[in-house]
Amino acid sequence: MLAVTRSSLPRVPWRVCRAAYATAPSLNPVIEQDIHHFSKILPSTSVVSTLSPVASPASDLDQFNNDWMGKYKGQATTVVKPKSTHEVSQIVRHCWERRIGVVPQGGNTGLVGGSIPLKDELVLSLANMNKVRSFDPISGVLVADAGCILQSLTDYIAPHNHIMPLDLGAKGSCQIGGNVSTNAGGLRLLRYGSLHGTVLGLEVVLPDGTILDQLTTLRKDNTGYDLKQLFIGSEGTLGVITGVSILTPPAPQASNNVILALPKFDNVLPLYKLVKQQLSEILSAFEFIDRTAYELAVKHGQGRALSDEDVRGAACFVLVETSGGRREHDEEKLNHLLETLLEAEKPLINTGVLSQSPAQFSSLWALREGVTEAISKEGKAYKYDISVPLSSFQDVVDGTREHLRSKGLLNDSAVKHVIGYGHVGDGNLHLNVVAESYSPEIQAALEPYVYEVVASHRGSVSAEHGIGSMKTHALHYSKDEVSIALMKKIKEIFDPRGIMNPGKVLP
Ligand code: FAD
Ligand code: MLT
Ligand code: ZN
Repeated sequence: MLAVTRSSLPRVPWRVCRAAYATAPSLNPVIEQDIHHFSKILPSTSVVSTLSPVASPASDLDQFNNDWMGKYKGQATTVVKPKSTHEVSQIVRHCWERRIGVVPQGGNTGLVGGSIPLKDELVLSLANMNKVRSFDPISGVLVADAGCILQSLTDYIAPHNHIMPLDLGAKGSCQIGGNVSTNAGGLRLLRYGSLHGTVLGLEVVLPDGTILDQLTTLRKDNTGYDLKQLFIGSEGTLGVITGVSILTPPAPQASNNVILALPKFDNVLPLYKLVKQQLSEILSAFEFIDRTAYELAVKHGQGRALSDEDVRGAACFVLVETSGGRREHDEEKLNHLLETLLEAEKPLINTGVLSQSPAQFSSLWALREGVTEAISKEGKAYKYDISVPLSSFQDVVDGTREHLRSKGLLNDSAVKHVIGYGHVGDGNLHLNVVAESYSPEIQAALEPYVYEVVASHRGSVSAEHGIGSMKTHALHYSKDEVSIALMKKIKEIFDPRGIMNPGKVLP
């Protein structure tokens, strides 16, 4: 086992954020007496602990102590799985009194280490809080426990012809509470906007155990400060979200998609402009994958490969989705767009592959949605989820590749691929560096390099995944001192004892 001391930390730069935590006010570990207390609040099956009297095997904690990418590792001894808001409140109140750190955990699909304890904090899993509380088919307002899985909410409202306003590759595991806590963006943001707009109300257990009931279903409510907004995207640092009220849009009557193969990245922007003009209100996604991302998706079985002819000469691909009210009308618009594109004197695209069946529709989406999964099968990913001007997407990817090459790190035993994909319509680039393994050398080559590039564009170091423990030290590249000072004051108001998700978000 590697003993990590303060003096050894600087030699392991990718764990630098963890060093910051060592200087935070001291918190207490969970001990046997706490297990006795939790066992009075919860049934025995809802307390998993290596401590007596529960004494579960350490392997039972693995799924809670390791993140989706295999990058972050916690040392929690105990996980509690409350079923009700009242139970959450009792547990959190106890932790507040005992000064025990609490890490709220949803589906554990986060990509910035936010859901993993830095040390041995208590993990509070929302997995058992999974009931729909109400759905109003007239207004489309859904009220659900925070632990409901996104896909199960989608399935629940489908018979009412409604859809969730967000969709993401992790939908089968991520929870609505986790989505709200990270302000997840995803594949539908272009059409339905961010959760800051669609979340109507929240129920939150504050760090001292008080229940904040803001679970309203009102579209309009201008009664002073909109406190719920603070919890959207706060990554569990201000409280535990236990209930969510969210506006769900009517399901579109018709959806189509097409993948367009482009000869060069420079064509993406004019293409986006044209697509917006021609498809206007029915455009629901405009997603970008570069050639390497496409090839990895295919290599790792995400969606069906396009024909050789369709990919010949393609530098990158764009997936366009339409969602509208009448199939014939939408198809006419889409066909007209394709004709315009293919018949243009200087064509922006080489080819377009239009889905002809629900299976093909899903397969085209899988080529984009499955990139994350494909990358995780290919190697270890350094994921930079950034907002930069659309015009610089390719330069950022190419520049990073060249930078790594200049450091001698672009080879099969270090960095295998530098990839770009993302939500063009939202100005959000996913810059991914896929390596054979996580290493201090690659980490040191990438940071602060990437953050400095982002700052030079006045961009954001986190467009959608959040700060977690990965980017606490990089917050200042996107937020000025005044903003960070105010954020710290807000944290202090809600959580003066610093028990809620310690070491996350704030430097
Ligand atoms: P977790 O990972 O469990 O937690 C994330 C953070 O929220 C942690 O800080 C945690 O402490 C906090 N948290 C969780 N639940 C609560 C709660 N009830 N109360 C308070 N705090 C809480 N993200 C996007 O934005 N867009 C995408 O398109 C996207 N696609 C993805 C695709 C894949 C394959 C994967 C693996 C991830 C993807 N993500 C995406 C990232 C991730 O899925 C989202 O951030 C998701 O919203 C996290 O939800 P979760 O329930 O898994 O939360
Ligand atoms: C996506 O857009 O696919 C997600 O944000 C996940 C990722 O960045 O890999
Ligand atoms: Zn994304």
